[in-house]
Amino acid sequence: MALAEFREPDQPGWTRRVFFEPYRKSRNWTAALMAGAGLEVRRDPVGNLLGELPGADPQLPQIVIGSHTDTVAGGGRFDGVVGVVGAVEVVRLLSAVGRPLRHPLLVVDFLGEEPNRFGLSCLGSRAVTGQLHQDHLRLRDENDLSLGEALLQAGGSPDELECGLWRRQRLLAYLELHIEQGSRLERAGIPLGVVSAISGIHRAVITITGRPDHAGTAAMDERRDALAAAAEVVLSLERLAAEVREGASGVGTVGRLELSPGAANVVPGWARAWAELRSTDSTWLAGRHLALEASIREMAAARRVGVEVDWVSAEPPVGCAPGARLLIAEAAAELGYRQMELSSGASHDAAQLARLCPVGMIFIPSRDGRSHCPEEWSEPEQVARGVSALLAAVLRLDRADSL
Ligand code: HGY
Ligand code: MN
Ligand code: MN
Repeated sequence: MALAEFREPDQPGWTRRVFFEPYRKSRNWTAALMAGAGLEVRRDPVGNLLGELPGADPQLPQIVIGSHTDTVAGGGRFDGVVGVVGAVEVVRLLSAVGRPLRHPLLVVDFLGEEPNRFGLSCLGSRAVTGQLHQDHLRLRDENDLSLGEALLQAGGSPDELECGLWRRQRLLAYLELHIEQGSRLERAGIPLGVVSAISGIHRAVITITGRPDHAGTAAMDERRDALAAAAEVVLSLERLAAEVREGASGVGTVGRLELSPGAANVVPGWARAWAELRSTDSTWLAGRHLALEASIREMAAARRVGVEVDWVSAEPPVGCAPGARLLIAEAAAELGYRQMELSSGASHDAAQLARLCPVGMIFIPSRDGRSHCPEEWSEPEQVARGVSALLAAVLRLDRADSL
């Protein structure tokens, strides 16, 4: 709740977007929370907050736990935050028990997990897994500021990203506690979810160039209305994404739409739509990707508008490690918590970390399945059960030597 107070005053909900002042200030609060729990805190070149707890045997690979504390515009108080504050709570509980872990433990607040105005999500976890490249740093926002400059202004050192790279042999596993952001746990009346897989996401920026005209004099059959064309893209995406193919399904959304000139009496000559497709089934994703492209091209020809489809990212689905899933299920059972396996429609930093090490995720219920909105809510007891499960999983992992 204290972290939620770091919010953008002119935005609904609890908005704390990366590169905005409330987020920058909140990182000092989170760093102090980490230090208060006895962690050795530092920031890496991209701006991740890293809190280290030495293990009895420093030669052993690290156990990594964490998440993110940035939000979407109009976001809630739990997405990501539960995983960071929960990880710090695990450390506080470990010190209360007074027995050090064998493995070194790393708590991470990853920078900028949510998509930002540069169009790139998971900035911090991409950086440590070597997926944040120089061409990404040259991405520019609407004020022509580059991502590299934005990282610099935020106190990072983007030209030293290599120094922040994590080495696979130093990692035992990454575990992330997160809210489900859906309603399956709540509907099943089950307090804990063991994540089986994380959806892949294909994102496209679709730019439509029509012709601006006088809204009163341009005949309907002469118009090249960019917004009407964009509306067709939105509806064909909705139709394509609703199709189940060989038992596989997914979702599709246009969450952002811009148009110009935006006058009530001018036929829009230009429009831009941000579209995304998600599924845990890569064949479904590929098929819908191609079907969407084809339907956009067909529509553009019929409406005589120009169209550019720029697929800005195509992240594959990621499986959580079977060993991590078993470990979390055993930890939950040890605590007497009922649990169920479920896939994640949302993406997470864990999807990036899976490139380097086995990952596992623990879900707690979201009220009415709502998230990315001010109504996002989980009960304190639900958060506490998630933290207990994370602690039990870390203790089990510490006794293991591999997953
Ligand atoms: O969009 C997502 O799935 C995540 O919340 N960044
Ligand atoms: Mn989110
Ligand atoms: Mn999240």
